[in-house]
Amino acid sequence: MSKIVVIGSSNTDLVVAAPRMPEPGETIMGMDFMMLAGGKGANQAVAVKRLGGDVCFIANVGRDMFGDRTVENYKNEGMDISTILRDPEAPSGVALITVDEGGENSIVVAPGANNRLTCKDIDSQREKIEAAEYLLLQLEIPMETVEYAAEIAHRAGVKIILNPAPAAALSDELLSKLYMITPNRTESQLLTGATVNTIEGAENAAIALHARGVKNVVITLGSLGALTFDGKKFEHIAATPVKTVDTTAAGDTFNGAVCVALSEGRSLVESVQFATRAAALSVTRIGAQVSIPYRKEIE
Ligand code: RIB
Repeated sequence: MSKIVVIGSSNTDLVVAAPRMPEPGETIMGMDFMMLAGGKGANQAVAVKRLGGDVCFIANVGRDMFGDRTVENYKNEGMDISTILRDPEAPSGVALITVDEGGENSIVVAPGANNRLTCKDIDSQREKIEAAEYLLLQLEIPMETVEYAAEIAHRAGVKIILNPAPAAALSDELLSKLYMITPNRTESQLLTGATVNTIEGAENAAIALHARGVKNVVITLGSLGALTFDGKKFEHIAATPVKTVDTTAAGDTFNGAVCVALSEGRSLVESVQFATRAAALSVTRIGAQVSIPYRKEIE
């Protein structure tokens, strides 16, 4: 049984780098097209694996060419593929990604089989979830499935980390079960209504999330680093300065890394420092999973 269970999406990313984002209705010329492994759940699971964590990834992919490639990719990563479900009726998840010259991205996800990861599927993996130390979740699968998995984990005393991406409203019931939430600037704004342009704004958002029942709040702030709040004190962790090529999967790398460090018994602040370094390395390279660093690169 694995210490860290990740439940979430698995996508194939269809990526084009371009000098800038097109305006609505505009056609612009980009660079060569790339087909790369992605999906927030998958990226986080791969980050855990590459950073030395003991991971089990539960996901649903189609029985199509993308699904075959995806499963092959997990095998190459040395991951157990027995928990990757194959859906005969839905296409695999695909994400259309444009990356501009500043490294910013815009992403549209066609969820396909990710949207059909059901509570019944989660039940079939119940033993693995209950035996874990950490459950890492995101929001590219149905909210009902996220809530169901959280309920199983909570009852078993498993620590739940939720990366609330893409941003969505969350129930107090779900928030109250979380050991940690890791929103970025826009997600924390959506969840709390606070304006998060400064460290002070992030502190206000962290207080609001803690008041709704989350034990630890970690707000990622891009070039401003990250803010942690455990209900008693704030800590600001500075970003590692790097030349940004592509921010895709920086958040996923951060989440996988923070989970690995916590599972090794590091403190909240030490874990966020480790995750900040991992995420910084990931933005220096293009693509989602291909940009995720290995443990030795961070050390
Ligand atoms: O977080 C980055 C990921 O978001 C991409 O890999 C894409 O698949 C989308 O899920």
